[in-house]
Amino acid sequence: MTSFAYTSGPARVVFGPGVLDQLPEEVRRLGRSRVLVVSGAGTADAAARAAASLGPLLAGHFAGAAMHTPVDVTREALELVRGLDADCLVSVGGGSATGLGKALSVRTGLPQIAVPSTYAGSEVTPVLGETDETGKTTRSAPEILPETVLYDVRLTLGLPVPLSVTSGVNAMAHAVEALYSPDANPATGALAQRAITLLARALPGIVAEPGDLEARSDALTGAWLAGICLGTVRMGLHHKLCHLLGGSFGLPHAPTHTVMLPQVMAHQAAAVPEAMRVVAEALNVRDAPSGLYDLITSWGGPTSLRELGMAAGDLDEAARRVDVDGVRALLGTAYEGTRPPGPAAVPDFSALTGQVLASFAATPDPRVRTLVTDLVRVLHDYTNRNDLTQQEWEYAVDFLTRTGQLCSPTRQEFVLLSDTLGVSSMVDLLSNSRTPQTTPSAVLGPFYVPGPPPEPLGADIAGGLPGTPLWADVLIADVAGQPVAGAVVDVWQSNDDGFYDVQLPEQAGPVLRARFTSDTDGRVRFWTILPSEYPIPDDGPVGQMLAATGRHQYRAPHLHFMISAPGYRRLVTQLFVAGGAYLDSDTVFGVKDDLIVDFAPGSGAPPDGRAVEEWHQVSYTFRIAEEKP
Ligand code: BEZ
Ligand code: FE
Repeated sequence: MTSFAYTSGPARVVFGPGVLDQLPEEVRRLGRSRVLVVSGAGTADAAARAAASLGPLLAGHFAGAAMHTPVDVTREALELVRGLDADCLVSVGGGSATGLGKALSVRTGLPQIAVPSTYAGSEVTPVLGETDETGKTTRSAPEILPETVLYDVRLTLGLPVPLSVTSGVNAMAHAVEALYSPDANPATGALAQRAITLLARALPGIVAEPGDLEARSDALTGAWLAGICLGTVRMGLHHKLCHLLGGSFGLPHAPTHTVMLPQVMAHQAAAVPEAMRVVAEALNVRDAPSGLYDLITSWGGPTSLRELGMAAGDLDEAARRVDVDGVRALLGTAYEGTRPPGPAAVPDFSALTGQVLASFAATPDPRVRTLVTDLVRVLHDYTNRNDLTQQEWEYAVDFLTRTGQLCSPTRQEFVLLSDTLGVSSMVDLLSNSRTPQTTPSAVLGPFYVPGPPPEPLGADIAGGLPGTPLWADVLIADVAGQPVAGAVVDVWQSNDDGFYDVQLPEQAGPVLRARFTSDTDGRVRFWTILPSEYPIPDDGPVGQMLAATGRHQYRAPHLHFMISAPGYRRLVTQLFVAGGAYLDSDTVFGVKDDLIVDFAPGSGAPPDGRAVEEWHQVSYTFRIAEEKP
């Protein structure tokens, strides 16, 4: 059970290719008419387009925004705001432009529209970090949050690939730290997971084709969602280190995030395994820290602080300023760019899987095509996710070979395998249990023998075998409860030791199995013995699997029924003895609540004048469905 407090920012978000054209409308929506556009280096084109789109709403343009929002730049821009009598701020660009927009807004109370062109995410946070000669100060207040954000995917098309990668990993960092934040909650968890998935999907696409609008749209969506995380929950060690390295050692913001993230994740991994599992799944890698490191390498991103210009001599001082165990070692590996320990990078199987899937593309029967291609997908995914070794694969082939070799007309090891893996019960549920008015079905099992000996009603099918006598009295009815006369009812069960007749070499002929026909009242009555729990055959591969996995081999005690009547769907089912052993751990997963029945001690004189002292009885109404026309 989790407890949390969650406040989401009230910003308006307009997203899509070309939404920059809506800028004038958004300015008017805020009731404003004199806009100062602020931008920094590197986004001159986008800023010029924004300014041009404003037409008469444009009061001026300040293009001097700088990294880490220096207060002297803010002062300069502030003079312009006042000089122009601007009533609205539009920031166009990355974190520097957004930062300046916030710094101006918080000093003037003017509304801001942010038009981001990178994946920094700060446009949806109420946080402002500023630098002056004494260092960096950060504050958070609701009024810092921009009123409106225009995410124009087209503006990001021009973001150079190296910047797209580092900015994208910077966004990922917000999501990763949100997953293990002390304020983590289901909303930010879901946003973070989606953000990482989108960014991991988008970045290789952008590296391959920087103008790929779909990939750009995914990246920007991911950046937005990650930005919401950044704005709503506290960040951790990674952000602390990156702010220190950027603010005090002059390292570039997004590349520093890119180098540090896998290293900090490796440092945190043992303490936050669930968050790392979510990240690994979202990145589609086996291990989050080493997997992210490999992805960054494959996208051409930086992996060492050394290549970002950090001086080796500064590492001790940086570590001293962060009071966290192991941080010096962490900074050392980040400086060197050492790959975090973890499994080897996963080869890219998409081409191979694609080829195999394509080989089935011409399958004439669409159902066969679906079943085969999905099987390939699942098997490839299984092989990949589990890093299957040659030895394991050979073992699997041998296991299946032996399973097949054990099959004979009286032994079906494959069915047993399907039973013990729960697949038979799944197919049974999918195929047979779609009519709630009928009795649930249950697996057939390997011990049914077609054409059992016909017996008259009231017969004893125990053939003199030892056991507690049991009187079974069942009604075959339709879904309306009307008796079905003339139904063919096959019954079979194990003996008191848990063996079926076909398993006993000394048993000549059938016993504890019979075929009855329901009378005019739809009833079938017979004597037998109480069924007992029994082990399924364990002398083959299935037995080995159960032993190797510490599972028991027992079925809960039951009686089998197969009921057929002209015009009705055949029902194959079992009745389980209430209170019997293994009801909640039946090794073939065949027990259903509606099939658990009282096999109570009989009272009074035994039926049919039989002279027995202790006997039990079971009665049940089977409801069978009419065949669909
Ligand atoms: C049975 O109930 O007879 C049975 C069902 C599945 C596997 C083994 C035995
Ligand atoms: Fe059975």
